[in-house]
Amino acid sequence: MGSPRVLRRAVELRTECDAARARGLRVGFVPTMGALHRGHLDLVRSAGSRASFVVASIFVNPTQFGPNEDLARYPRDLEGDIAKLSSVGTDVVFAPEASEIYPESGDTRVRVSSLADPLCGARRPGHFEGVATVVTKLFGIVGPCMSVFGRKDYQQLLVIRRLVRDLFLPVEVVGHPIVREPDGLAMSSRNAYLSADERARALAIVRGLQEASVQFAMGERDARRLELAARALLETAALSIDYVEVRDAETLALVTRANERALLAVACRVGTTRLIDNVVLGEEPGPLSR
Ligand code: PAF
Repeated sequence: MGSPRVLRRAVELRTECDAARARGLRVGFVPTMGALHRGHLDLVRSAGSRASFVVASIFVNPTQFGPNEDLARYPRDLEGDIAKLSSVGTDVVFAPEASEIYPESGDTRVRVSSLADPLCGARRPGHFEGVATVVTKLFGIVGPCMSVFGRKDYQQLLVIRRLVRDLFLPVEVVGHPIVREPDGLAMSSRNAYLSADERARALAIVRGLQEASVQFAMGERDARRLELAARALLETAALSIDYVEVRDAETLALVTRANERALLAVACRVGTTRLIDNVVLGEEPGPLSR
């Protein structure tokens, strides 16, 4: 596969995408923050199976990080990322500077309300506003027909679906299944922060989700009891829990019973690293059953 064109300026990317459309190509888009792993490459492959011209962006978006979060130490490897994207058939890599996306004169933010409020939204104020703003800007530059997002960031996927619907953006948003390591840990760029001991303890997350999935499969529908089943595993590994919550898989409203499709979402800290994971009960098998 040929090397992708690497562009830094929004105007260049727009010109490139316009030219692709003029040639009759269907533009697919995968936004990323780089430090790419197999999960990201699966998103690009998925875009390539649905579109004939694939754009991936690499941009560590400052507005989605809180003041005490890991913006400065977020892993960056542009050359390595370009090589990986090249191996999965990417036509263009967009790697802008922050000043390109957020010029000083910029004054617009995109905020999605109710879906962005619970779970990570409650613990990371401003996070989803940063995500919604950058994704809207990137969609505006690329003008994709379709865009692929991983389901590990399940709440993010719902927020983006909602903003696309509310702003009448002509983009099909595709949710891609969580990609896991052989032992079940969900792939994340932040896994690179984990020491060997933390990496081993982080497996409690997937074990907790698995335990709740098994109980759901055996007929347990009480949301609090399902949360407790997952929580017990996390506590055994001494993880610091941000939340373990069962919510409606579409609206993210709290539910007392996990009926047809319920999201069980987990966020916790392993050492200083914050990890998230989830399973949709009633829709997916447990994370260790794949
Ligand atoms: O999921 C991510 O990596 C980011 O939140 C995204 C969608 C690239 C926006 O910065």
